[in-house]
This record gives sequence, C-alpha cells and structure tokens, in this order.
Amino acid sequence: MVIPNLELNKNITQADTLPAEFYLNKLAFEIAKDKIFAQSWQLITEVDALEKNNIFPFSFLRGIINEPLVLTKEKNDISCLSNVCTHRAHLATTTICNGKNLHCKYHGRKFSLDGKFYSMPGFEKVENFPAPSDDLTRIPIQTWKNFIFVSLEGGININSALEDIQNRIPAFPFAELQHDETSDAEWVIDAHWALYCENYLEGFHVPFVHKGLAKELELGSYETILLDQSVLQIGEGKKEIAILKNPESPNRNIYGLYYWIFPNLMLNFYEWGLSINIIEPITLGQTRIRFLSFPIKSKKQPKEGDSAIGKVELEDQDVVLRVQKGIKSRFYSKGRYSPEHEKGIHHFHLILSKYLS
Ligand code: FES
Ligand SMILES: [Fe+2]
Repeated sequence: MVIPNLELNKNITQADTLPAEFYLNKLAFEIAKDKIFAQSWQLITEVDALEKNNIFPFSFLRGIINEPLVLTKEKNDISCLSNVCTHRAHLATTTICNGKNLHCKYHGRKFSLDGKFYSMPGFEKVENFPAPSDDLTRIPIQTWKNFIFVSLEGGININSALEDIQNRIPAFPFAELQHDETSDAEWVIDAHWALYCENYLEGFHVPFVHKGLAKELELGSYETILLDQSVLQIGEGKKEIAILKNPESPNRNIYGLYYWIFPNLMLNFYEWGLSINIIEPITLGQTRIRFLSFPIKSKKQPKEGDSAIGKVELEDQDVVLRVQKGIKSRFYSKGRYSPEHEKGIHHFHLILSKYLS
C-alpha cells in the first residue's frame, strides 16, 4: 500500500482538495500516528483536578496511540511520566488516587512523584542498580490557565493560538470557569477524524445545516483568521457581550470565537463560558468526539433551543457521517475550495500535507 499524493496547491483559487483516498488509506492513518499525533499536544485535565488526587494515570489518545502515562503533582510541581514500570512493564499505577509515591502492584517497585526509582524488594544483589534507566521516562508537559497539555514528542506549536486568545479576549474570566462534568458528552462516530475537523473549519454550512444557529449569527461578517498551526473563526451576533470583546475592535458584537488547534483540539468561547471538543481517531473510519463544558461560575451552558450546542453538534455529526459515505464513492475523487468560505480547511490540508509527506 502506498500513501496517496497529498501535494496541495498553496493558492486556494487554483487548489483541489485532498484526494478521497486520503480518508480511506490505512498507511496514511498509520503515518499520522507518529508524524502528527505523537507530536501533538493533548489536553488531559485541569491543574485543580490534581489538588484532590495528585496521581492521575491516563491513556494518551485512547485509540490511535494508547500510551500509558501518569500525571503527578508534588507541591507545585506537575510532572507527566511514562506509566510503565521499568522492571517488567506492568503499569506503575492503575488508579486515580492521592499518594507520596507510585507503587507498582506487580513486584512492589516504588518511584517518587518525579519518576525517580525509589525502592525495590529482592534487588539487593543486582549490580549497577539502580541506573537512570530504572527511572520512569519524563514526558513533555505544558500548562496554560487551568489546563494541562501533554505531548509524546512535542513537535507541534500550539502557542500562537493560545497567545491569540490571550490578546484578543483579555476580559474573558478564565479564573471563574468551572468544569461541569454533568454537561460533558462523548460520541463515537463512523467517520475519519479529519472529516469532523473540516466540517468545524468552515461556517459555510451554517445556513444550510444549522437553521437555528443561523438566526443568532450575522453571517455576512463571519470571519476566518489563519494562525500558525491553528485557525480562528469569529461569529458576530446581535448583542454586546463584554467578555468576548477585542480591545482593538470594541464595536464588534462577538457571539462566539471558535479556535481549532492542529490537529484535534477545538476551543469555543461564548457568553456563558468555554466549551472544548477533542477529536480522537480510534481507527481509520472511527472517531471519538469528546465534549467538555466549562461554564463561568454564575452562568449555565444553554441546553434548550434551536441554537443549543447539543443540537448543533448532532447536526454536524449527521453531515460528517454522510460525507464519510460519499467519500467512498467511486464517482468522487476530490473537490475545490471556496476562497471566501473555506480557507480554514485549505490551511488544515496544507498542514496535513506538510506533516505527512
Ligand atoms: S513490573 Fe513493576 S515491580 Fe515488577
Ligand atoms: Fe457546524
């Protein structure tokens, strides 16, 4: 099997979209695992979630990668470590808990919270022991506001989007956000992960697919801004929302700011707070969508009405599922982009093609 030609014309007015084979090609999916997802930064949890339980094992990208890792917190130091015991590869820890060290349940090896080998019964006669290779491997980590991001190899830059957020909405009350787990949701859909991202990256479909949302937005002024390894879409509405105002353009009434960070993270800023979508590839044709809700303390995520996120989400999933069917057709090979409405997708495809070729 060979990977399809993903070369793309940088000029959107001349470019064809990615070929349909891309979404059906197992090798391209496998290559994306190392060249994209191992380089990506994944949002794992919040800093304050480690207050109660300072040992937090998790699987990095459940599906496409499945790397067992663990977050630990000791005083103010947060570490991410390989969660594989350096003795014989049992998991170093298996439950979210509070503790002073990681204690492997297989033969009792202990590690301190920064991953250093601490003790092991039955190893008194072992020579040159312990060595640095008996410590748990440290994994790249970065925190932003209350969020913890982890990457296996750290090759993708996410800072241009995070800095843009900082500069564009300085009044947004990050400190008042509270994770409302009762509003979180998770779906597994039979579609390629990139198709879900593409749909997110354009507002072109809003009047056709989201009739309720379309009533709230001023679609004539919908804007797409290309950033390094990310895209921002700005929807204007009818009323003034102070916390979404950009000090440089205070007359615009912003309804929502939609940030996509390559490859699979979406941060959506609204009057009521922040919602996050994480798009996790499971197999070539199966994707998990995780929705996380962070309302501002005094507010609630709206659940009713034609423009509610839950309704809009299912409208999006329906079209993505239908595109997955269409992409397999023998009569479809590729399309073209609308320069006015689809530059976010073109940008995404250029980044994909850069990482995969
Ligand atoms: S595998 Fe962990 S102590 Fe043996
Ligand atoms: Fe949509």
